[in-house]
Formats: sequence, structure tokens, C-alpha cells
Amino acid sequence: MTVNRAAQEEVVARAYNYKVVRQFALMTVVWGIVGMAVGVLIAAQLVWPALNFDLPWLSFGRLRPLHTNAVIFAFGGCALFATSYYTLQRTCQTRLISDGLAAFTFWGWQAVIVLAAITLPLGITTSKEYAELEWPIDILITLVWVAYALVFFGTIMKRKTPHIYVGNWFFGAFIVTVAILHLVNNMEIPVTFFKSYSLYAGATDAMIQWWYGHNAVGFFLTAGFLGMMYYFVPKQAERPVFSYRLSIVHFWALIGVYIWAGPHHLHYTALPDWAQSLGMVMSLVLLAPSWGGMINGMMTLSGAWHKLRDDPVLRFLVVSLAFYGMSTFEGPMMSIKTVNALSHYTDWTIGHVHAGALGWVAMVSIGSLYHMIPRIYGRTHMYSLTLINAHFWLATIGTVLYIASMWVSGITQGLMWRAVNEDGTLTYSFVEALSASYPGFVVRMIGGAIFLLGMLLMAWNTYLTLLTTNPNAVRDSAKMEVA
Ligand code: HEM
Ligand code: HEM
Repeated sequence: MTVNRAAQEEVVARAYNYKVVRQFALMTVVWGIVGMAVGVLIAAQLVWPALNFDLPWLSFGRLRPLHTNAVIFAFGGCALFATSYYTLQRTCQTRLISDGLAAFTFWGWQAVIVLAAITLPLGITTSKEYAELEWPIDILITLVWVAYALVFFGTIMKRKTPHIYVGNWFFGAFIVTVAILHLVNNMEIPVTFFKSYSLYAGATDAMIQWWYGHNAVGFFLTAGFLGMMYYFVPKQAERPVFSYRLSIVHFWALIGVYIWAGPHHLHYTALPDWAQSLGMVMSLVLLAPSWGGMINGMMTLSGAWHKLRDDPVLRFLVVSLAFYGMSTFEGPMMSIKTVNALSHYTDWTIGHVHAGALGWVAMVSIGSLYHMIPRIYGRTHMYSLTLINAHFWLATIGTVLYIASMWVSGITQGLMWRAVNEDGTLTYSFVEALSASYPGFVVRMIGGAIFLLGMLLMAWNTYLTLLTTNPNAVRDSAKMEVA
């Protein structure tokens, strides 16, 4: 009887493709550490410029895009692949449609990351922000993304459940929209193997770029992570989603509005004024669906708030929602033209970015990984809850230090740049504003280093979890499959 059950459970454990989920999950931790370490390095370069060692490959201008690509596409991307493949199989109660294609997405994506890590420090770049990679790598990205779409939608088609869980709607929108953004913004004419020029020119190029840039935020850094939120928050809280109806309204409103808000990146530029105003209005409207989603996530904890006392994984997820709410309030405010006149080009933008990036994207990914890692490896729990708790506090303190210091230095910069004397000359030189920003740079570097330390604890905890041999490994994971 016991033997039969064990055998049956083993079959269940083998029913899903967890190999690719494990691969992406581990690489999320690895790329998180690498990308954030580069972040800390460039933050330190702003404090001690000598840290570029007079080497072109280590100059701020080359390492900055390396940081953004590593954290967004390597860390964030691997987190999205891992969690989407995991939740997809569990909510559709079926295995991924093709193991081969799924493996191709893993190895192809890692190849893209390695190529980015080689070409960006060498100065090979299209110079379009968040789309810096040159055309041969763009083609590889396209192939990987087509494979991803085939695996994702193919698996949806063979699902054994009658409806498509809302988390998968968000993942699906993320996959489709990122494909369109990538193709349109990277239309370029190659001149050599390492150099291409954009097909667009002037204000059109700027508009296409920020339609891309903003929707990369909306779909890569938001919709996909909302898909994650809709699965892992209810799972960890052991409560159903607060309102399924709200989640559907949230979905359609979010994807319908995001796509129009890009021009808020181009206030007071050569872009037609009506387009700037449209971007501003749509950004203000965007507050509603963003908060609808945040509230839906938060309220899922109704009746489970007490769990926050001793569950640091749930705390990661809830605090990520709080930062999501905060950054999606700040964003619409910053898109008001008069506010943007102060915030644009300053560190305020950098603070806003990291409220979203560290507070929301990184925290929700970390919480989801802590939920997922023991399950995909057939362990009952992570090795150490104390380490997760320590990580939670390091991440929270690190994020707060980062954001607060950038608010102070950003508003200082904005006010100093615009100050004029009675005779119309500038009150402060640029260097004076720069030295006033210096304390903020120091605090940001410390905050970033604290956040990075938390990631190292995560890697250590994950290693110890994998090291522990669990005699019930197969049984536990099978139990979870069934649950
Ligand atoms: C309702 C939601 C949001 C709105 C309306 C919004 C609005 C804005 C505005 C007005 C800017 C400054 C543009 C400028 O002056 O150059 C900005 C920058 C940015 N935001 Fe948001 N934001 C939102 C949410 C988020 C979230 C959740 C994230 C991250 C996960 C994020 C990431 C960014 C990034 C990366 C930039 C900098 C882009 C660049 O110049 O390189 N935003 N956002
Ligand atoms: C240890 C953590 C981190 C540190 C210390 C750090 C540091 C930095 C620094 C110093 C910059 C350049 C700021 C400037 O040009 O003045 C930057 C830019 C940026 N970082 Fe991070 N970062 C960290 C984590 C992250 C994460 C996790 C993400 C995304 C998921 C992220 C996304 C970005 C983006 C999008 C920009 C460009 C912002 C813009 O152009 O407006 N960072 N980061």
C-alpha cells in the first residue's frame, strides 16, 4: 500500500517540468547578485569617481546599462520565466507543452545575458535605453521570445482546467506586449555586425523609444510581476484572491491605459504638446487600475493579517505591494507637467525607479522564490526562517535608504538648478548642485550594499536548503502537487 502510494506520488512529482523552473529560479538569485553588485559599484563610482580605474570598460557610462540590463532582463527576466512556468503548470494542471522548447528558452536567455555582459562593457550599444543590445542579439531575443510564447500559450491550450487563472492573463499580456515592443522599437539598419542605426529619426524616434520604455515598465516590470502576485500572495496567505471580479477589471484597465502613458517621459521636448498632455492624463488615470490591483492583493490578506507576525515570506509579498502602491502614486504625480519640470533629470526619478525596482519587482520576486524553492526541490521549507527574516529587514531598510536619499538629493538638485538671481543669472553652478547631492550618493550606496547583503543571505539559505537531504523529498513535493 505504502509502496503503491509512494510510486503514485512519484508519478505526480514527475508530471510537471520542474527542471526548467529550478534552472531559472537559481539563475534569478545568481543574476540578482551580479546585477545588484554592479549597481553598488556604479553607486560607489558616483561617490568615488576613481573607481572607474581609468579603464573604458569600467566607466560609469558602460556599466550603467550593464546594471539595468542585468537587473531587469537577467534577474527580473529569470524570475518571470521561473514563476510563470511554475504557476502555469499548477493552475492549468498540466505539463509544459514542450520540454525541448522550454529548455531552449532557458539556454537562449542565458546566452542573451552573457552576450549583453560582454558587449555592453565593450561599448557595443544601440544607445537606446533598455534596448541597448545590438541587432544580432535582438534576433536571438526574438527567437527565445517566440519559443516562450509557444510554450506558454501552447500549455494554456492543453490545460485541464475550465478557465484561465487570472495570473496567467497577466503573464500572457506581458509576453504578447513585450514581443510587440521589442520588434517595433528595435527596427534598425545594420551597418556592421556590431553596429546598427534606428529606422526612426528625431521626435518619432524619441516617441517610439519612450512608448517602448514606459511599456517595458508597464508590461515587463509590472504586468508579469502582477501575474506573480496573483498566484503567490493567495498561496502564501492561504486565502483566495480578495475579488476575482476586481482582478478582471484590474487586468483590462491596466493594459488598456498603460500603453498611452509613454509621452510623460518627453515633457517639454519637441514632441507635440497634445501628445505630452495625453501622456500626462493617461498617467493620472493609471493610478486607478494600479491601486485596484494593489488593493486586491492587500485585501487577500483579510483574516490572515496575523500571519505577518511570523511569516517573513508573506511580509516580503505584502511590503512589495506597499511599495507598488507607493511608486504608482508617485509616478502619476511625476507625470504632471509642472511636477516633472522639477523632477526630470534629477535623482528623484532614480528614487522612483528603485521604489518600483527594489521595493516592488525585487521584493515580490524574492517572496515568490522563497515560496517556490522548497516546493520545486521537494523540501518542506527553506533551511532557515531566521535568514529569511534577516533578508526581509535588510531589503526593507536598504530600499528605504535608497529612496529617501534620492528624494532629498533629487529635490535639492531640481530646486538648485532652477534658482535664478534677480538679474536672471543662475544662483548655483552645476558643480554646486552636484556637491549638494554627494551625501545622498553616499546613503544610496550604503542602502544598495545593504540590499545586496540580503541577496547574499538568500543565496546562502538556498544553498543550505539544497544541501539538506530530505528523506521525504518526493513525497513532500508530490503532496504539494496534489494540493
Ligand atoms: C502608475 C504607474 C506609474 C507612472 C504613471 C509612472 C510615471 C513615471 C514618470 C512621470 C517618470 C519620469 C519621467 C521623466 O521625467 O523622465 C517615470 C520614470 C520611470 N519609472 Fe515610473 N511610473 C509608474 C510606475 C512605475 C513602476 C511600478 C516602475 C518600476 C517597476 C517604474 C519605473 C520607472 C523607470 C525605470 C523610470 C525611468 C525611465 C528612464 O528615464 O530611464 N515606474 N515614471
Ligand atoms: C543593490 C541594488 C541596486 C543599486 C545599488 C542600484 C544602483 C543604481 C545606480 C547607481 C543607478 C544609476 C543612477 C544614476 O544614473 O544616477 C541605477 C540605475 C537604474 N537601476 Fe538600479 N540599483 C539597484 C537595483 C536595481 C534593481 C533591482 C533594478 C530593477 C529591477 C534596478 C533598475 C535600475 C534602472 C531601470 C536604472 C536606470 C534609471 C533611469 O535611467 O532613470 N536597479 N541603479
